[in-house]
Amino acid sequence: MARDINKSTFDQATKIKLDIFRESFKEWLPIFIHNKYVEKRYIYDFFAGSGMDSDLNYGSPLILLEEAKGTDLMHCSKSDGKKIVFAFNEKLKTKSKELENNVTDFLHKCLQNCGRQKCVYEHHVGNYNFKEAFNRPNVLEIMNNKKYGKFVLLDQYGFKEVDSDIFNRLINFPKTDFIFFISSSFINRFQKHASIRKYIETEKIEFKKSEPKHCHKLISQYFKNLIPKNKDYYLHQFSIKKGTNYYGLIFGTSHSLGMEKFLKVCWNQDKMAGEANFDINNDFAEGTLFYTEEFSNKIERFKEDIYNKICNKEIVSNIEGLKFALKYGIQTKIYLETILSLIDKGKIKITKGTFNKKVTSIHKFTSNDLYEFCIK
Ligand SMILES: C[S@@+](CC[C@H](N)C(=O)[O-])C[C@H]1O[C@@H](n2cnc3c(N)ncnc32)[C@H](O)[C@@H]1O
Repeated sequence: MARDINKSTFDQATKIKLDIFRESFKEWLPIFIHNKYVEKRYIYDFFAGSGMDSDLNYGSPLILLEEAKGTDLMHCSKSDGKKIVFAFNEKLKTKSKELENNVTDFLHKCLQNCGRQKCVYEHHVGNYNFKEAFNRPNVLEIMNNKKYGKFVLLDQYGFKEVDSDIFNRLINFPKTDFIFFISSSFINRFQKHASIRKYIETEKIEFKKSEPKHCHKLISQYFKNLIPKNKDYYLHQFSIKKGTNYYGLIFGTSHSLGMEKFLKVCWNQDKMAGEANFDINNDFAEGTLFYTEEFSNKIERFKEDIYNKICNKEIVSNIEGLKFALKYGIQTKIYLETILSLIDKGKIKITKGTFNKKVTSIHKFTSNDLYEFCIK
C-alpha cells in the first residue's frame, strides 16, 4: 500500500508537483472567468487527499481554493454571480472527513477576511472511489457539456487509475484541461509484469533504448500515441526526479492557449528544457564553465527540426510552425526567434501574407495575421 502522502511533510518532489498544479490553475482560472462562451466552470480534484501535510502545508484542494482568491481577492470579485464549482474527492472516509473540515476552516477564515456572508464559489467534498466518481451521471454530463469549462486534477498514487480508457475520455471532453500524476519509474521497472501490462501496453514503449531519466517522457509519448492522428490536441509532460526514481505529470488540452499557458509554467520551472526538475537533455549545468541560458540542447534540436520540416514543406505557414512548437513543448517565442534568424540568414522567404511577430493567443489569429514561407 502507498505511504499516506498527507501524514508527513511534503518532500521536495511533491512540492514541485504542487507548484505546477498551483501555477497551472492560476493560468487557467482567469481565462475561464472571463470567457463569455463559458457558462459554468468546474474544478475537479479527484484524488484530493486530506488538504494538508503534517506541517499544515496546503495540499492540492486548499492550493486551488487559495489561488481562486487571486491577488487582492481579484478573482472573487469578478466571480460573483458566475458559477464556479470546486469538487474534491477522496476515497478514504477519514481523509475525506478531514478534508471537509480543512475546507470549512479555510473558507471560514477566508470569509472573515473578505466580509462576505457566503463564498462566491461553490464546493463539494465527495468520498468515492475515483472511477465511481468519474462515472457518476452528473459528472459525465458536466464533462460532456460544451458550455462548461473544466480543470481536472488526477493526483493518483502509482499508475493504475488513469488508464487508456480514462485518458481517451479525458481528451474527448470539450473545454477540459487535465493534469495527471504517474509513477513512471515503477512502470519502467516492472514493465514485463502482467499487473502493469493490464493498464499500460509497455511493449509499445522503448524503455530499453533509453536512459532511465527519460522514462516519464516515453510514457507521455505512449499517451500521445493514443491520440487519433487527425485530432488537433496538445500533450506535454514534466518529469520529476526523487532520489533515483522518476515520476511526472502529464497535461492535456485541446486548446492552443491551454498549452501556451502550461508551457509558460514548465519553462519557469526548467529554463533549459521546460520539462524536468533535473538536467534531462545533458545541458551544461548552471554555474559550470560552458553554461549559458541561451544554449539549450532542446531548443537547438527544435530549431533544426523545424528547419527540416520547412525544407520538406511539412511546415509552410506561421500557424503550422507555432502549433509545431507547442506540440514540441517549446514556447512560441522560440518559433519567432528561429524564423527571424532564418529570414536574416536568407534561408527562407515569405511567400504569402505579411510577416508579423505575433506568437501568443494564436487561436485568435485572423487571416491578416497569417503568412506563409518556403526555403529560398
Ligand atoms: C497522491 S495523494 C493526493 C494528494 C493530494 N493531491 C494533496 O495534494 O495532498 C492520492 C490520494 O488519493 C487517494 N486515493 C487513492 N486511490 C483512490 C481512488 N481510487 N479514488 C479516490 N481516491 C483515491 C488516497 O487516499 C490519497 O489521499
